Formats: sequence, structure tokens, C-alpha cells
Amino acid sequence: MHPAGLFWVAAALRLLLAAHVAAAFEPISLGIAVGAASALTGYLSYRDLYCRFAECCREQPLNASALKLNLEEKLFGQHLATEVILKALTGFKNNKNPKKPLTLSLHGWAGTGKNLVSQIAAENLHPKGLKSNFVHLFVSTLHFPHEQHIKLYQDQLQRWIRGNVSACASSVFIFDEMDKLHPGVIDAIKPFLDYYEQIDGVSYRKAIFIFLRFFSHIGHYRVLSGVPCAIHNAGGDLITKTALDFWRAGRRREGIQLKDLEPALSVGVFNNKHSGLWHSGLIDRNLIDYFIPFLPLEYSHVKMCVRAEMKARGSAIDEDVVTRVAEEMTFFPKDEKIYSDKGCKTVQSRLDFH
Ligand SMILES: *[C@@H]1O[C@H](CO)[C@@H](O)[C@H](O)[C@H]1NC(C)=O
Ligand SMILES: *[C@@H]1O[C@H](CO)[C@@H](O)[C@H](O)[C@H]1NC(C)=O
Repeated sequence: MHPAGLFWVAAALRLLLAAHVAAAFEPISLGIAVGAASALTGYLSYRDLYCRFAECCREQPLNASALKLNLEEKLFGQHLATEVILKALTGFKNNKNPKKPLTLSLHGWAGTGKNLVSQIAAENLHPKGLKSNFVHLFVSTLHFPHEQHIKLYQDQLQRWIRGNVSACASSVFIFDEMDKLHPGVIDAIKPFLDYYEQIDGVSYRKAIFIFLRFFSHIGHYRVLSGVPCAIHNAGGDLITKTALDFWRAGRRREGIQLKDLEPALSVGVFNNKHSGLWHSGLIDRNLIDYFIPFLPLEYSHVKMCVRAEMKARGSAIDEDVVTRVAEEMTFFPKDEKIYSDKGCKTVQSRLDFH
């Protein structure tokens, strides 16, 4: 900022500070001081001024083109996830009067971009992203590890969500490792996801809930041995199976449509007692708005991840290194070797090594 601008902002702040003290005795002077402070800085309102120094809960509409750009630059091989996330978030944020909070359920293989997408979503909703006071990340094995403490977790989670949504209606809650979450814990938040106008004076309708990683490794080996399986996985290998069917039929990956996956996804999750949603009533009551599938990543996508990581580190893109890192990954199924076992997950550490 220009030095003269800084001077005026400082002057305005001093005025506001004085006004706060004065306001304790005489409320009118606060209004006058705010007016004066705004006049001094020319264009800044009190709120703008305040929000320069502290993080504010904002209700601003989403910048859809910025979100789209972020997704295009960082997320690879996920045409469906990109499409659904864009539609879900812009639709919800443009709705002045949503009837329920937005609930997204992200499914798929390790390293396919679920965490990345939740991070990008968080940053586009609150500029500080995962570091924001209005974005809350819960990791099952970290926050809710002990089965015998479920009652405690339920109370805690309800208190936290109520407290945070009271403070900021557009709070974002991300639940990672849903496959490791005890169903009882998720039951505790069910009322908040429903179509209530308010609960005990708090409205949850502008909040966003994102659930990640409904998948277990069992599904992986099932696909490898070629046995179709809808019960023992949480959607992960149904997605892989569909992708593989397309590949084997010589059809384009981008030709996979939501309708090829969505019914299978919700049924798979519902039937899986390790998914954390099992019989929890989230699905049977249709409280999940969008199921978002993440396809397994191919060799070419891994290369894109390596290039993006190099770019993010500010280094020149060296195609030899790109190829070497991608070739170090392991691929499945055993014969065709199409999909990366860990998606792009270990790309960063492998790049450190090179
Ligand atoms: C939205 O994002 C685009 C791309 O980042 C940017 O050029 C544009 O200025 C933004 N619009 C607003 C209103 O912030
Ligand atoms: C908001 O949630 C966090 C956990 O992410 C918790 O520590 C904090 O106490 C909550 N705030 C309120 C006001 O409940």
C-alpha cells in the first residue's frame, strides 16, 4: 500500500479504537467514528477495514471461473469429479436460500485427488483454505480413534459443529477416512444435514459437509483377481471396474458418465459396513447431495502430476525425471498394468529423491 494510504488506515484504526472505548458509554459515537473512519480512508467500510486484519466469515458468491481454473491446473484424469464439484459448489453458493446444507461424498482410490479437491474447495470458499477458522478437518484415526469413546466423540462433534456454524454460517466440515469412522459418530451429525430450518436457534443450511475416502483395500485384490464385488468395498473398486470395462472395450475414459457410476456408488457404500455410512441413515434419507467418483489414474496422469509438482516447486520441467518418477510407480491389474496403485500419492517424495 502507498505510504499515504497506510497513514490514513492507521488514523482510521486509532479512531475506531477510541470509538470502541467511547461506545461503552455512548453508542452513538461508534457510528460517527465508523463514518469518519470510512470517510478518511475514502472507500473502506468498517467491515472491510476490520477484515484486512482479521479473518472474516464471508458470504460472498463463489468465483466459478477461479475454481474451474484451479481444478484444471491441479486435478488430472478426473473429468467427472471436476464437473460435479463445479456444479455442486456454484449451484449451492448461488442459492440465496438453500433448504439444507450441501453434502458431498468423494469416493475413489488412494492418490486420485480426493484430498486435493477438498483442499481446492476449501480455498475457494474461504481464502485461507484448510488454515481458515471456518474450515474444519476431521481425520477419523486422529480425532475419533477409540471405539469406547464414541459417546464423547458424538457430544464433542455436535458441540463443535453447533459452535462453529453459530459463529459462521458458511463453515466447511471435511471428514477424512470415512471408511475408518464408527457409524455412531456420523449418526451424531445427521440432524445437522437434514432439511430443518433451524435446530435450537441455529440454521445449518449454509454449511458444507465433505466426506472422503470410502474405500477399503479389500476391493483392490478383488479387482486384481477379476472377481466382481459390490459388498466388500465402499465404491472404490466399482469405479475401477467400470473404468477397466471401458478400457477393455476400447472406449474413451472421458466417455464414462455419472450415470454409469452413481447408482452403483450409493448402493456400494450403503452395503459396506466399513464405510462409516453403513445403516447410518445418511443414504436412505437422501441426505448426501452428490456422490463424486474419482477414477483410477493412468501412467499419463501420473506424469501430469509430476509436472505440476515441478511447476509448483518453481523448477524447470525435465521430461527425463518425469518419466523416471512415473516409471517407478507400480500399476495394476497384473497383466495390463493400466492404473497406478497409489495414484499420484507418492509423487512428491519420489521427486525429492530425484
Ligand atoms: C474470478 O477469477 C478469475 C480467474 O482467477 C479472475 O480473473 C477474476 O478477476 C475473478 N473475479 C472476481 C470477481 O474476483
Ligand atoms: C470449532 O471446531 C473446532 C474443531 O475443528 C473446535 O476445536 C472448536 O472448539 C469449535 N468452535 C466452537 C465455537 O465450538
